[in-house]
Amino acid sequence: MGPPEELRARLARCGQSHLLRFWAELGPAQRGALLAALPPGLDEHCRLAAAAGARQRGPPERLDGRMEPLPARLLGSVRRSDPAALERWEAEGLHQISQNKVAVLLLAGGQGTRLGVSYPKGMYNVGLPSGKTLYQIQAERIRKVEQLAGQRHHCKCTIPWYIMTSEFTLGPTEEFFVEHDYFNLDRSNVVMFEQRMLPAVTFDGKAILEEKGKIAMAPDGNGGLYCALVDNKILDDMKQRGIQKYEPQLRHHVAIKKVPYIDEEGNLVKPLKPNGIKLEKFVFDVFQFSKNFVAFEVVREEEFSPLKNADTADKDTPTTARQALLAQHYRWALKAGARFLDENGCRIPEKLSLSGTEDAPAVCEISPLVSYFGEGLEVYMKNKDFPSPFVLDENKAKLLGNS
Ligand code: UTP
Repeated sequence: MGPPEELRARLARCGQSHLLRFWAELGPAQRGALLAALPPGLDEHCRLAAAAGARQRGPPERLDGRMEPLPARLLGSVRRSDPAALERWEAEGLHQISQNKVAVLLLAGGQGTRLGVSYPKGMYNVGLPSGKTLYQIQAERIRKVEQLAGQRHHCKCTIPWYIMTSEFTLGPTEEFFVEHDYFNLDRSNVVMFEQRMLPAVTFDGKAILEEKGKIAMAPDGNGGLYCALVDNKILDDMKQRGIQKYEPQLRHHVAIKKVPYIDEEGNLVKPLKPNGIKLEKFVFDVFQFSKNFVAFEVVREEEFSPLKNADTADKDTPTTARQALLAQHYRWALKAGARFLDENGCRIPEKLSLSGTEDAPAVCEISPLVSYFGEGLEVYMKNKDFPSPFVLDENKAKLLGNS
């Protein structure tokens, strides 16, 4: 029996007749699954994909004409801020955390295609001496900042961790957390939810069949966050827990952190407000609709080292992520008064200014459970000699604190 006429006509109208190529060979369950996978907006989705494909085949497009610089009054900066103001904001952050009003929202539905691993990126180990994965580091940072806020305000507080996953990443992420006992977080405060999927489409706008009766699907982009928050009643969950913030400043509809970067021609790129159209949904797509938008420029070496590519690339790789984290920990250790010795017991000369892709002269990893942002290290490290590599974990901190 052939496909229902209405279905055949619908798919023909949007150039997707090939999806019915194997219809005659499918059983009732497979036919049902194929129909269920066709989203209501398939037509529009495929049209946009074809348009994006045509742009891709055309001459490279410069986006500058479609970007507007942010007015200076909407742009703050760590470097340009008065240290007293930074301290005030930090204190306010810890105060809000102590009131259980802050949550962490992590986007972890991506497939990590460029990194080239078959499991979620959070499970990746970038080769730190401790062997910790990105999820473990994040979990420990949450535990530490809860502790810092609790100590300052003499209370016990919680930062719920919302993790957006996708059909690809939910199962392995859940298993990984169970296997590691939720990294000692309270399980009820780790909320995993799934984003929507969209048919994967070729650059000429044709949905792809993964099997005879199965359309290949992909997560709908990190901008799928907004629908996923609603679909999964995450906003209700946040309200119920009294969460008021998952961005730094509530009085703005959108507040982002911005990392300055250099473009391919060597120019420093100023923060811009994008206003173009793209196919995949991105978190920043909604920024143009905000009535009140601010950006806060942070220091790249202190806050940002993305893991995008495998080590065969020259940037945003496991190596550059590891180098950036270890360079930061090395700076913290030096600031706290540590000295590092080589295998012959000779002092390793210090180097404070390191490029993003350079190994620190000594390898020092500091567990987030010991220090969140370099605070409180003097008690363990001041005027002390350490070998390289050295890992300052909770056990070593206890010993050093008592010595
Ligand atoms: P990336 O572009 O770094 O990661 O996304 P990716 O999508 O995993 O990698 P590629 O593009 O396949 O190589 C930035 C962040 O957005 C999340 C990712 O998990 C990552 O944390 N993301 C991306 C989602 O949550 N959902 C998506 O559909 C896409």
